Amino acid sequence: MMGEVTTHEHDVVIIGAGGAGLRAAIEASSSGASVAMICKSMLGKAHTVMAEGGAAAALANKDPRDSWEVHFRDTMKGGKYLGDWRMARIHAQQAPDRIRELEQWGAVFDRTPEGKTSQRNFGGHTYPRLAHIGDATGLELIRTLQQKGVHMGMDVFMEFTVRRLFKTDGRISGCFAYDRNDGSLHLFKAKTIVLATGGITRCWEVCSGSWEYTGEGHALAYWAGAEMGDMEFVQFHPTGMIWPPSVKGILVTEGVRGEGGKLTNSEGDRFMFNYVPEMYADEFADTEKEALEWVDEVVAGKLATKRRPPELLTRDVVAKAINSERAAGRASEHGGAYLDISWRDEEEVKKKLPGMYHQFKELAAVDITKQPMEVGPTAHYVMGGVKVDPETQESTIPGLYAAGEAATGLHGANRLGGNSLSDLIVFGKIAGEQASEAALKIDKFAEIEQSEIDEVIEETIAPLSREGGENPAIVVEDLRRMMQDKVGIIRTKKLLEEALDDLDALELRSHETFGGSGTTYNPGWHQALEISAMIDVSRMCTLAALRREESRGGHTRDDFPTPDHSHWGKINSVILQGSDGSMNIDYVSYPPIPEDLKSLLDEDDLN
Ligand code: FUM
Repeated sequence: MMGEVTTHEHDVVIIGAGGAGLRAAIEASSSGASVAMICKSMLGKAHTVMAEGGAAAALANKDPRDSWEVHFRDTMKGGKYLGDWRMARIHAQQAPDRIRELEQWGAVFDRTPEGKTSQRNFGGHTYPRLAHIGDATGLELIRTLQQKGVHMGMDVFMEFTVRRLFKTDGRISGCFAYDRNDGSLHLFKAKTIVLATGGITRCWEVCSGSWEYTGEGHALAYWAGAEMGDMEFVQFHPTGMIWPPSVKGILVTEGVRGEGGKLTNSEGDRFMFNYVPEMYADEFADTEKEALEWVDEVVAGKLATKRRPPELLTRDVVAKAINSERAAGRASEHGGAYLDISWRDEEEVKKKLPGMYHQFKELAAVDITKQPMEVGPTAHYVMGGVKVDPETQESTIPGLYAAGEAATGLHGANRLGGNSLSDLIVFGKIAGEQASEAALKIDKFAEIEQSEIDEVIEETIAPLSREGGENPAIVVEDLRRMMQDKVGIIRTKKLLEEALDDLDALELRSHETFGGSGTTYNPGWHQALEISAMIDVSRMCTLAALRREESRGGHTRDDFPTPDHSHWGKINSVILQGSDGSMNIDYVSYPPIPEDLKSLLDEDDLN
């Protein structure tokens, strides 16, 4: 019956079943805590499965010069020095062990000829560093963690959406969810909660995010009063599919460029060289031909150089270059760029990039061993999220932890490819460990105010009785188009101000949406409920983007095109909900980086 609530009690509730959630669950279960895992889709289908190219870890299998120190440096540099150095250090130091552990649990990584875990080149990584399984690394990671996790004895609640987090006396005490299949309502009492809900990129029209990526995790934390950080930084991956329209945005792994894929424009020019000519000046002789030969040798691993091909500059740089080529009238046939791997041996391409081979063959009728792909930027990742303690992953709400894309800190203004999968397993483990340790110290489940439960029940069932209201799908579509146009790769004050007004108007419309009155298998109802989270996370991104008057990493202002190192380069945005429901923004800095770590960074950048 509608309104009836089933109550569950678990020491630790983990929301999200991607890499971070599963890794947290394994750790929490192994400590003896009772664990519930709540996930929006089916177990095994989380967005992590869409991660393709690999997990970054300084195993030094392909190049003995690699080390955690170099990985630390690359991460800080890639994040344009806005990342939390404490998280960057923990991540670089612990990622190799997390990869080895996955191997022990049965992950079948690709191998070097000597039988070590293979590692491939990716943008911004000085050495080949991404441990990978063809171009389906996320899938294998999830398969392995799930296999391990389900034997640890946790309770799994699949196809549930969490609508609210509860606090009692300022501490997290539970959450409320509904079952997407039958509409039943559920109260989860918990001693601690780990948010591992992933990202928000479904707020943009062209994105690589799966359908779950509507930002509920970010919104839940914000609504509960957690501090949110760095929300202006949204990564547009340079290479998503752009044709045919039905597949626009689907990821084309950076692994293609890591394996030697070359980007060209409509004039056949390998344009990336033009964006950073000074970086390559001392590496090759006079002619473009020699330059291209040099790059081929680097990719083939024949040349002992630290320089990467220009296609492997960080994602912000490559995405903006493709955008500029389009603006200059040199786009590919359907408005992007050409990406060509066909110069490599056909069998190698099929072996190293099997997913890409099939993806293009089946979805675009393109044989990538013979023809170039057409690609363009796609909203891929949000660097911003819940602010956490770097050592524990606890948010500013006691008892609420966050890990993976739901949290912020590690990636600063721009994430390096491959640092996401390693982030999930490093910080997922820490969050699970800390959340269970804290939970096991608490005797009793806290009482949750009945009025709060009643309020969220009312909110959840409200759309079912708004007969005659607007179709929620239309509001969502308008929101996504607006974010694409006004809070995209290139931003301006005018566009961002307009976007904030548009969000107010969309919010009013969202209160009147009707997706049908049934509670069983009713996607219209789910969508009507999702919009409030999409609006608030979009608002966080827009507000933070409007305030940051500079360009840095995943935030480019046409009206402030250069980075401002002396002011903006030293501060991170923090968004917090005011007691009157207003969205407030402030700025903080991480503690100064200690000298021993500072000495690892690029001196040129520091000056
Ligand atoms: O391009 C890719 O395979 C994506 C990887 C990542 O975002 O880490």
